[in-house]
Amino acid sequence: MIKQLVACEIGPNYQVDDGFLALKLLVFYPFIRFFAKGESYKQLFTQLVSDNGYIGYVDSGRTGLTLLLKSLQLESDCEVLIQGFSCIVVPNSVRNANLIPVICDVNEDDYNIALVDAEKKITPKTRVLIVQYPFGMVPNVDKILVFCKKYNLILIEDCAHVFNQNVLIDGETKKIGMLGYGSIYSFGRDKVVSSTLGGAFLLNSTDPDTLTAIKNEYEKLPIMNLFKELQGLWYCVLTVFIIRPFYFYGFGKLVLVLARKLHMIGEIYTNKEKQGFADLGNQSKYSPVLAILLNNQLKKADKTKEHRQKISRIYNSILGNQTQDQDNLIRYPIRVPSEKYYQIKSTLKKNHVLMGTWYNSVFIPSETDLVYLNYHHGQLPVCEKLIKNQLINLPTNLNITTSKAGEIAQLIKPILTLT
Ligand SMILES: Cc1ncc(COP(=O)(O)O)c(C=O)c1O
Repeated sequence: MIKQLVACEIGPNYQVDDGFLALKLLVFYPFIRFFAKGESYKQLFTQLVSDNGYIGYVDSGRTGLTLLLKSLQLESDCEVLIQGFSCIVVPNSVRNANLIPVICDVNEDDYNIALVDAEKKITPKTRVLIVQYPFGMVPNVDKILVFCKKYNLILIEDCAHVFNQNVLIDGETKKIGMLGYGSIYSFGRDKVVSSTLGGAFLLNSTDPDTLTAIKNEYEKLPIMNLFKELQGLWYCVLTVFIIRPFYFYGFGKLVLVLARKLHMIGEIYTNKEKQGFADLGNQSKYSPVLAILLNNQLKKADKTKEHRQKISRIYNSILGNQTQDQDNLIRYPIRVPSEKYYQIKSTLKKNHVLMGTWYNSVFIPSETDLVYLNYHHGQLPVCEKLIKNQLINLPTNLNITTSKAGEIAQLIKPILTLT
């Protein structure tokens, strides 16, 4: 039996065609670096995201979020409502823009910001609400829009987990990402479309002052450095040709560890970020070389969406509609009794599946000390409950087949139903 890795992580979106493309980019790197304009992805991205508004392409979602927040030109003690059950770069971006993150609890059903808790935390200084769409789950956006209107809040959409998704508002179809002041996207390694590194911001506001502010900040950014570009390409090549196929033979895992040690593969978070500092030094524009890889992913965006829907429906039909008919999911979240968590994990591992662990702390990575966010235990009861081994994620990416998805669900089902 072939022990091919199935996972939510480790280059989940990269397929053999991406691997060959990245290899070609590596081989001809000096030539491509010098001549690549890498413009064709912009047309595809615009079609999928919005053909209105101003889009800037940057090195990461976190840079995009910082730029959007800065463009608001708010006083430095203004507050931004964000949710826990997220990634540390979100509050860091708020701090980066000299604003104060106010952390709110999440809903148990869609893992999005709990407006009941947000309402309690509103002060005269609250100016912004960031909605996150964890796992690609879209909450009742009408409620969020009404909430923002009621409290005069600026809405920013963090679309790091959602892409190419429509929503019905008052009988009208709208695109997620176009509902508020602006939105951000990530092309990070585990995201919906990936070039290992990268991101974008979309400014929907047409206010000329804001537009000038964001353009000025954006233009000031340097181009992505060569080392990071190369790390991005290596990550794709190694995950497709070595790490994933040979992971369960030991060799793949070894290459992953070695490549990290040798800095052929970069880290998702810098040490500074883990210590709670927003790492301004790393910010740059996007890379015209990685853009070629992104272009290939964007060409597959509709196929990827269809595939994710198909896989989510299989999980839903066998495991009892855990996601309330949401099916454009970057990962499929399942609530599990905490005492079954490790049993499920090891059963899946024996079948060459690594389950995802979003989120095993209020903000990942779990080693981040949240003292600098004034976070204290008990502040977010739902988040704190969920992170205690109550949620697992199953893969929905192109590297999992429909039959494997069925097999995974059938493996988990008896564990969940057994009391
Ligand atoms: C919810 C959320 N927002 C923003 C980001 C930032 O994306 P990036 O890694 O591209 O900076 C991430 C990813 O880490 C995320 O999970």
